[in-house]
This record gives sequence, structure tokens and C-alpha cells, in this order.
Amino acid sequence: MKGVILAGGKGTRLYPLTKSLNKHLLPVGPEPMIYNPIRNMQACGIKDVLIITSTEHMGDMVNLLGSGSEFGLRFAYKVQDEAKGIADALRLAREFASNENMLVILGDNIFEKPIDYFVKNYNSIQKGKGARVLLVKVSNPQRFGVAALDERKVIEIQEKPENPKSNYAVVGAYIYDTRVFDIIDHIKPSARGEYEITSVNNKYIELGELEYDFVKGRWMDTGTFESYYLANKIMYENYFNKMGIEQS
Ligand code: DAU
Repeated sequence: MKGVILAGGKGTRLYPLTKSLNKHLLPVGPEPMIYNPIRNMQACGIKDVLIITSTEHMGDMVNLLGSGSEFGLRFAYKVQDEAKGIADALRLAREFASNENMLVILGDNIFEKPIDYFVKNYNSIQKGKGARVLLVKVSNPQRFGVAALDERKVIEIQEKPENPKSNYAVVGAYIYDTRVFDIIDHIKPSARGEYEITSVNNKYIELGELEYDFVKGRWMDTGTFESYYLANKIMYENYFNKMGIEQS
């Protein structure tokens, strides 16, 4: 399995923090935000990771991360010229994937615990076929992709619905087989002009090939000041606990 980290986009909700700095390079606890998805790639046993970011921030990204040897990984990089959506960014991974399945993580999603169980379940339960998503119960589902569930399955995902059918957000970690690229080629931009990852996931639901796990531990999307603050608080608390540092 290969890894893809999406770190493009404009980060406008965090202005002025992100006016000249890529959001994924901001600190979350004692490390840059993008270290969290990188550590998840390591935890999942993935060796080759493609990092996709925008033209203006590629230099900073490569300066920070280099070849990946520091992490025991091999990094490749691709530029997304315009922020046309998550599925549009993923499209750029076609050659890199070269017929292997992929774990895709959005660079602004912070997981408190490693998501290795997610990859293990995909390989054992789905035998490496179809798509798998991760769900978490939230109090503000309107901000996310939201999954409507019956007893066993996801029956539909709606992107940022006004009247959500559940409290289960689809978080930014996905596993796909290589058919994902043909699916992306056939989706249309949404009303906000983006190629949505939710359209891709709904196609896998239509094919009857999308399954899910629930996130273990806490999860944060750092796209807003509130969630960015919370992610920092949690990751610093965990770090201080690990180091045995008492907080006054
Ligand atoms: O965080 C989970 C949510 O992420 C999901 O529940 C939603 O279904 C999904 O659409 C996404 O929603 P956001 O509104 O949070 O997405 P955002 O535009 O903030 O982009 C998330 C990440 O994807 C961000 O780290 C940058 C990257 N990205 C985004 C866009 C639009 C790219 O690399 N290229 C892009 O063009």
C-alpha cells in the first residue's frame, strides 16, 4: 500500500496565520501539523508517501521534510496548481500509485492514536478491494461529510449538509483501490466548484464497496481556530504527560 498526504488548499479560515505559511507546517503541539499524518503512515507500515501541496508552499515543504529518510520513509512531491478540491488533488497520485492501493490522509486531520487498525481491517475484511472510511461522532456535523448509516452499512454521504441525517462525520483518512482514479475522472464539481471526495465515496457506496471503522481516540480537523486550538491543547497535554512534565 502507498500513502498520499494532501497538504494543498488555501487555509483561508486560519488567516492571517496561513497568509504566508502553509497550514500544514503550523505547529500542533511540539511538532509541525504534517508530522501527524506522516507518523500515521509509519504506524501503518507504509514506506512510499506522496505529498501534494500548492506551488507557493512546495519549497517550505521540501525544506522541512526532505527525502523522508529522517522518518524511515521515501517521499515524493507533486504540485496542485489550483485548489480545486480534495478529489482533484488525489487525481495527481495516479502514476505514483502504479496499481497499488492507497491510504490517503488530509494533512489537517490530527489523530490522537495511530490508525493502523484501519489499514489492517481493509486488508483482512475487504481483502484489499473497494474503499474504507473512518467515522467519528461529532456535535457539529454540518461542517463535515456526514454518513447516513443503517445497521451495517453507510448508505449515503452528504457534504456539509444543512440538515444532517446523523452525527457521524467522515474524517479525512480514506483507503482506495486503484479504481479511484477512473471514478475521479467521472465526477463533476460540486456547487462550490470543487471536486469533492464525498462524490468519490458515494460512487463506492453505489458499487456496494465502501466499508468503515470508527476512530479510536480523539480526532481533530484543524481547519478553524477553535479546532486548531483544541488540537494544540490535546497534543501538548499528551506530550507533557509522556515527558512527565507537570502542568501548573
Ligand atoms: O476533515 C474532514 C473533512 O475534510 C471531511 O469531513 C469532508 O468530507 C471533506 O470534504 C473535508 O472538508 P474540509 O472543508 O475540512 O476540507 P478542506 O477544504 O479544509 O481541505 C482539507 C484538506 O485537504 C486540507 O488539509 C488541504 C487539502 N486540500 C484541500 C483542497 C480543497 C488540498 O490538498 N487541495 C484542495 O484543493
